[in-house]
Formats: sequence, structure tokens, C-alpha cells
Amino acid sequence: MTQTLNFRGVLKILKGDDPENLRVIVGLILRGEPVALPTETVYGLAADALNPDAVHSVFSIKKRPANDPLIVHAANLEQVESIAFAPPVLKKLAKSFWPGPLTIILRKKDIVPDIVTSGLPTVAVRVPSHPLFRKILLDANRPLAAPSANPFGYVSPTQAEHVVSSFAENCPVVLDGGPTDHGIESTILSLDDPKQPKILRLGPLSPNDLAQVLGCMPVIVPSINDAIPMAPGCMKRHYSPNVALKLHHDQASIKNEVEGCTNPRSVGVLLLQRSAESKKFPSGIKLLCLSEEGNLREAASRLYDSLRKMDSDPLLEIVHCETLSDRGIGAAINDRLRRAASQD
Ligand code: TXA
Ligand code: MG
Repeated sequence: MTQTLNFRGVLKILKGDDPENLRVIVGLILRGEPVALPTETVYGLAADALNPDAVHSVFSIKKRPANDPLIVHAANLEQVESIAFAPPVLKKLAKSFWPGPLTIILRKKDIVPDIVTSGLPTVAVRVPSHPLFRKILLDANRPLAAPSANPFGYVSPTQAEHVVSSFAENCPVVLDGGPTDHGIESTILSLDDPKQPKILRLGPLSPNDLAQVLGCMPVIVPSINDAIPMAPGCMKRHYSPNVALKLHHDQASIKNEVEGCTNPRSVGVLLLQRSAESKKFPSGIKLLCLSEEGNLREAASRLYDSLRKMDSDPLLEIVHCETLSDRGIGAAINDRLRRAASQD
């Protein structure tokens, strides 16, 4: 059934459970129009990767600088090999992690337009696991370039409504697949030099997960590295809400900061879980908890929605956030929090 959520009279959200809506989406893609699609990580703004004009529209809707290349999504390894050169280790990685939240940087083939890769000799590729995205890839029968479906630098979308609220009247049609599963963007692994695998962005798959298949620990490129334009999205300030964020190592430090504040309604607090400490926070502050049980996977899946909720409260002037343990996906959540809080 088609949902009638409108923005000033224009239908923006199509429900993913109606096959007719999927046909509409495929038709738009084949006509060169960008559409927003759910993936298992975050919603993506997708367009035909082999159509430079369609890709240009993606850059302009997002206001993304032309030197920040896009990820190309493929249905399977065969389609990946039609756009990029595959080193031997790719098969092993694909067998273990695709479809799934792993993006791999490979040497590109000429068929990929330069606008997709910002002129780089490499292309970022990923085989997503979301059933709706997979169905669209198969039906459209072409690779889809898709950055996260948010204005450049802002918090990524994990629900269809996030996409509509960020782009307002410039919003493309959004296919609604419900809230995304992982809630943060894919892990990016560069195999530009296959002998020296490098992680360019932390994500749902940890360095240890990858090491088990690679047979060596990949180098983690410092996420904040202005000198190397290798992953331009790895700039300091990114994934950022408009409200100021301040990070704290523990809840006691947040408590010290917020107790005695004169205007509790101007203060937000974002915690991993509720604790004895958090019960002592002044009443009136806006307190959001990423996971009642302190589960890091659940925390990741709620992170961006929570940041957006804080941002949409006009009374808030500052949000204090607890950083998490660097265990598993915790390191990727901390990476996003640090960049969201950065002022540079
Ligand atoms: O989970 C995800 O990866 C989501 C979903 C939609 O698939 N996509 C996503 O795309 O996060 P985006 O554009 O927001 O982030 C892609 C990152 C950017 O930091 C970009 O600079 C980097 O990938 N990238 C793309 N191509 C690259 C290349 N050839 N070499 C190095 N970095 C590249
Ligand atoms: Mg992004």
C-alpha cells in the first residue's frame, strides 16, 4: 500500500511492501533519477552508477563536494567484477562478509564514470544485504552509486522520515524499509594495495573480524587525517547535528557538569544506559538512553535517531554524550561521536 506522507502536496515516501512501489522506483532509476533506498546500515541516495548525469544529481541534492567519491552498490561479486579489478583475497572477503556492511576500495575499470570516483583510479564497492535494496539492484540490473541520504556533513538517516525531514522540498522519493539494522555506515577497507589492507572507516565489522579472513591485521588509518584525501568523508567534522555536543568518558563527569545548571531544559544528555549516576541528574534535562541494557549493537542502531531527536528540540543549547567502550562496534560509535562533536 502506498503511504500518503506528503511534503507540501508531493508524495515522498513509498512503502517497501508493495511490489508496484518497487516498479516505480526501478522506473525512476532507469530514467536517471536519484531515489532514497534503505540499506542494512543507513538509508542511501541511489542513482545509476553508469549514468554521469544521474550521479551529478546525487552530488547536487546532497551539496556534496565533487572531491568526495561515492560508494557503488552491486548485486553480487560478478557485478563487482564488471566495475573493478578483483585481487585474489576479494573472493574470500566476499564469501565471509557479502552481502553485508563492508565497503572495499578496488582499482576501477573504465566503465565507471570519473564523477563517481572523483577522478580517483579506485572505486568503493559494496554488496548490501537489505532485501529491498537487493531487489532493486537485480530488477534495475545495474550498479547503483549511493552515499548516505543526508545533506553533506549532517547526521546519516536510519529511517525514511529522516530523509524527508533533511531534504524537505528537494527530497527525492524514499522507499520505506523501516528503521535500518546496524544504524551506522559500513566499514571501509582499502585493497588499493592488496598486500597492505587498510581500514579507512570503522563500522559494524571490526578490524578483528576482517583480520580473521585477511590473515593479517589491517592498518587502521587515523580517522581524522586532513593530510590524506583518501577518504574525504574521513574529515574531522562529519555526521554532525547543529546543536553543540560535548563528549565525556563517564557518567560521573556528565553529572559534575550538569548538576546545578540554571536552565535544565537547555541541556541534553545522551547515555549508553541508565545507571545509579544518571538517576541523580537534575530533573528537566532531556535524557536519552541508547540501550537500556547497555547493548552496543542496539546503541549503534539508535545513535543517529537520538542525535536527530536532540537536534530537533529548539530549547537545547548543549548535549553531553557518554563515549563507550572501544569493544566491537563501540569503537565505530565513538568515532562517529568524536566527529559529530568536532568543531573543525
Ligand atoms: O553504509 C554505507 O556505506 C552507506 C550506505 C548507503 O551504503 N554509504 C555511505 O556512503 O556511508 P558515504 O558516501 O556517506 O560515505 C562513503 C565514504 C566517503 O567517506 C568517501 O570519501 C569514501 O567512502 N570513498 C568513496 N570512494 C572512495 C575511494 N575510491 N577511495 C577512498 N575513499 C572512498
Ligand atoms: Mg555519508
